[in-house]
Amino acid sequence: MKRLETDKEWTAIDDYITDCFVPGDPALDAALAASEAAGLPAINVAPNQGKLLMLLARAIGARRILEIGTLGGYSTIWLARGLPPGGRLITLEANPAYAEIARANVARAGFGAMVEVRVGKAIDTLPGLAAEAPFDLIFIDADKEGTPSYFQWAVRLSRRGSLIIVDNVVREGAVLDADGDANVQGMRRFFELAATDPRVSGTALQTVGAKGHDGLAILLVTSEP
Ligand code: SAH
Ligand code: DHB
Ligand code: MG
Repeated sequence: MKRLETDKEWTAIDDYITDCFVPGDPALDAALAASEAAGLPAINVAPNQGKLLMLLARAIGARRILEIGTLGGYSTIWLARGLPPGGRLITLEANPAYAEIARANVARAGFGAMVEVRVGKAIDTLPGLAAEAPFDLIFIDADKEGTPSYFQWAVRLSRRGSLIIVDNVVREGAVLDADGDANVQGMRRFFELAATDPRVSGTALQTVGAKGHDGLAILLVTSEP
């Protein structure tokens, strides 16, 4: 009960923030509507988180972005909006049906030429990205078990000054459970790797809101990988 009330308030506050900073956005609304109509799960980032991704991309002057975990392309569109003309975004998605929806959503938002959706398990498609590296910003948001490997790939595909952002690092506090499931083990292993990797300096923030209690890790690549 307490929990439900809390969630309700978090959502109301997210709505307030979104009304202020992310008012009516037809391209993103259309992407979510098409995703829902196609039966995709509503596990996209929240609007205020999406805007944070865009602002971070702009703040670092990102020209090349890599996303791992596309779903319907909602976060993809936000990230693409952070790119300058001529920028490029590659996003990796295991599910071909989701990738199709994402392509349509991204094209409708005007980023068809800038964004490439690559289909396949990320662990299989990441090694093929060396020629397109380094990426200035890498957003990791696919299967949580894979996060430790994706983090290692992200560093490898970075340069000094690249930003690596990882979604879902708290999962309602499950990250504290040393005996947690494979997803939790994935996140704990990611924290361990990220905290001890001398090539990055990172932190993590808990988030609450329309998507519940979770968190976001942000890491700066501080040396040439
Ligand atoms: N970034 C999206 C949400 C991604 S949800 C947004 O915020 O809008 C996670 C996505 O990762 C799902 O679409 C899922 O199909 C995909 N995924 C799961 N396992 C994967 C894998 N091994 N490789 C690539 N993508 C994967
Ligand atoms: C899940 C995945 C996500 O990327 C997310 O933001 C929320 C939930 C999931 O797989 O349940
Ligand atoms: Mg996520």
